[in-house]
Amino acid sequence: MQRPATPVPQEPDRAPEAAGRRESTPRLRGDLRAAVPDASAAVGVTVAVFAFLWFRMEAGTSSTVAVMPFMDDPRAYWMYLLSQAFGWSALLWAWGTVMLGLVLSGPRTARQPPRRTLERWHRTTSLTTTALMFAHALMFAAELVRHDTRPAWLTRLWSAFADSFVPGWYDSGTGQIAIPVGQAALYLAVPLGLLFYVRHRIGPRTWRRLHRFVLVVYVLSVWHTLLYGTNVWYGEWPRTVLWLLQIPVALLLVVRLARPARRAERLGAPRRPGGPGLPEWTARALGRLAAAAVVAGILAVVISGHDGGRTRPADPPASTPHDHGSG
Ligand code: HEM
Repeated sequence: MQRPATPVPQEPDRAPEAAGRRESTPRLRGDLRAAVPDASAAVGVTVAVFAFLWFRMEAGTSSTVAVMPFMDDPRAYWMYLLSQAFGWSALLWAWGTVMLGLVLSGPRTARQPPRRTLERWHRTTSLTTTALMFAHALMFAAELVRHDTRPAWLTRLWSAFADSFVPGWYDSGTGQIAIPVGQAALYLAVPLGLLFYVRHRIGPRTWRRLHRFVLVVYVLSVWHTLLYGTNVWYGEWPRTVLWLLQIPVALLLVVRLARPARRAERLGAPRRPGGPGLPEWTARALGRLAAAAVVAGILAVVISGHDGGRTRPADPPASTPHDHGSG
């Protein structure tokens, strides 16, 4: 295939950076400071979710207790409730920061806040998300230490740390898959978020390519929750809401892929001068089709009610601590 001898300049590829060059380069320390209001709001949301979960446990309507009847005491299991609450705020913040990222890399509209503001929100919410994910896992580890009856502290600490943070260590029920999925989300979120602050070393193009994988972090987070969250264990309204929340993300992804901010990423006609080669064009076209299929898939799940939720048993199951292995 004959490619044009003179490459067509792809100047709009630089457009978003041009705006960035005018402001001073964001640094991690500055962004951490800027994330304080955002993180405070996240703590507020976590406390509200914690209170809600506590209230449900007291009122006898907790799905967690339906899955694990021994947990019928919020005073004894407050650390577990706090871990769940951090899990929910982490997921909510992940949702928000992914939406902001998709807005930033999608088409500009007149009603959007200034790009600088959107970028700052995206960076601060992303830092907060990682901290919330970590707090969620840490509280789970703390809960394991608290309810471990072995006398040696070091054994308890190591066991809780390994169960929570070492992939493949947790060996009970659905957790054998769900926990490594959550760990993968956490361990990918850290480098993919922080690489931004060293992008001048790795090059903006490499950084952009790597940063796209944050979508994988989000998908892993949602998958982990659908697999393991006892508050979305049964095929009831909380699980439906969780699925519904994925529709705006999938729709924004379709819009972002169909009308990317960077002209160089636009699909255009195959084999157009200056455009991508046929294999890359095909991959991009397939990516857009896959995103549209995801929207259709989520709609099908919500409408059909086949959302992977288990049926609530008439009698509470007998289970051992943290072994929510069977539906
Ligand atoms: C080291 C990584 C992780 C560990 C050890 C872990 C552990 C757990 C455990 C044990 C549960 C079950 C709680 C229940 O009974 O409901 C759970 C649920 C959950 N996790 Fe994670 N998780 C990790 C990473 C993540 C990440 C990255 C997210 C993303 C935001 C996340 C969000 C959630 C949510 C929303 C729930 C549902 C809580 C509920 O049903 O109330 N987790 N996680």
